[in-house]
Amino acid sequence: MSAPEILDAAGAAALVDVEQGLASRRLFVDQALFELEAERIFTRAWLFVGLDSEIPNPGDYVTRNMGLDPVILVRGADGRARVLHNSCPHRGVMICQADVGHAQGFTCPYHGWSFGLDGRFQSAFHPREFYRGALDFDRLGLHPAAQVDSYAGLIFATWDAGAPPLAHTLDDTVRWYFDLFFARTPQGMQALGPPQRWVFEHNWKIGPINFCGDGPHAPTLHGPISQLAVGDSPEQFMAAILGESPDVMLGNGSAILLNLTPGERLDFVGYHPDMVDLHRRTLNATQIGLLGRMMTGVATLFPNLSLVQAPVRFDADEPPINFLTLRLWQPISATRTEVWNWFLAEREAPDDWKARSLKAGLRSFSAGGTFDQDDAEAWAAVSRGIRGPVGRRLDLNFQITRGWRDDLWHDFPGPGRTCRNMFTECTEFEFLAEWRRWMAGEK
Ligand code: FES
Ligand SMILES: [Fe+2]
Repeated sequence: MSAPEILDAAGAAALVDVEQGLASRRLFVDQALFELEAERIFTRAWLFVGLDSEIPNPGDYVTRNMGLDPVILVRGADGRARVLHNSCPHRGVMICQADVGHAQGFTCPYHGWSFGLDGRFQSAFHPREFYRGALDFDRLGLHPAAQVDSYAGLIFATWDAGAPPLAHTLDDTVRWYFDLFFARTPQGMQALGPPQRWVFEHNWKIGPINFCGDGPHAPTLHGPISQLAVGDSPEQFMAAILGESPDVMLGNGSAILLNLTPGERLDFVGYHPDMVDLHRRTLNATQIGLLGRMMTGVATLFPNLSLVQAPVRFDADEPPINFLTLRLWQPISATRTEVWNWFLAEREAPDDWKARSLKAGLRSFSAGGTFDQDDAEAWAAVSRGIRGPVGRRLDLNFQITRGWRDDLWHDFPGPGRTCRNMFTECTEFEFLAEWRRWMAGEK
């Protein structure tokens, strides 16, 4: 299929064969398709832009991207978080080029037009009479995101005024699981410093798909370090891998995979004991039953936000400590993606615990982290393996889903459609089925 042929809805839909469990490799290398995604998904979906804890006070701001568009996330004098297109209405220059800061407003470096924290035009550098009444300055503000909303201190925005509210994306099912990570204590979570950023040589979808539920790559690609991280023997490690691993389709292409310790005992591996007391007070009994048995948790919120929690041991004599990372897969081109990686901890946790949790995360899931070193190599090799004219004519294989998709774990205690184990690839393929719905204009 050539580039013009995929421009219409049917052409895009044909790239994912839901019945056969196949997906065209073009999804991961084709620049024309990438430009279509930027329009059809990233100008319409709810996108993560930052955390409340990053902009605690009026005037605090960070600069981010929504799809390919730069934005400023800023807290206004009224305390509201706003998302403003970071581009001057005069000649389009980026108004703010700092990553983070505190301001009374924003002044364009090119000709000096300035804007308030709410994005409204405030003044021109040159006297207004020069403009001879030809400009309606009241209508010259920074273009705002159409909707901004938050959940548990995570701020999201969409360019689409007609998009259903955030509660449609983060519905009861998603929140039931996400509360295990972001709303498990009364005060919630905070970012442990600014996000780390680095660039991967692969398509933006590879990461979110992997984080939907690619548990099986852990013992192969990460085998020795996975085992070292949790400090188990090879036998214990494989038992954990082959043990209970509910992989839940949350709806709308989102998913979560949990690795649970065997048996019913609540071990709370990797938590500070004081936090466990708070978790018990904050979550319901079923949620606590899962949290207490959770070794690792990994999830994706469609389209490009993921999380990982896992225990890391620094020394064989020490108990492991959990890190929690929130990860944005920021599209750059068909084969380049910038990762934005935050580490989070409970606001109520002691400072030394937060520092150790951050260290655990930096060692494992960060630019220099052991797991990301493995993943970066494999994912860049995906790009190299499929970018040729022959390679892109072929399909990626998710056919295992045909053996499992009608055999779900119906009595799993949490909401959502739960796969029986992490080997089914159903959650990963469901991400692509959702991609197909957006690209085919069904969303
Ligand atoms: S481009 Fe911003 S004032 Fe001219
Ligand atoms: Fe990995």
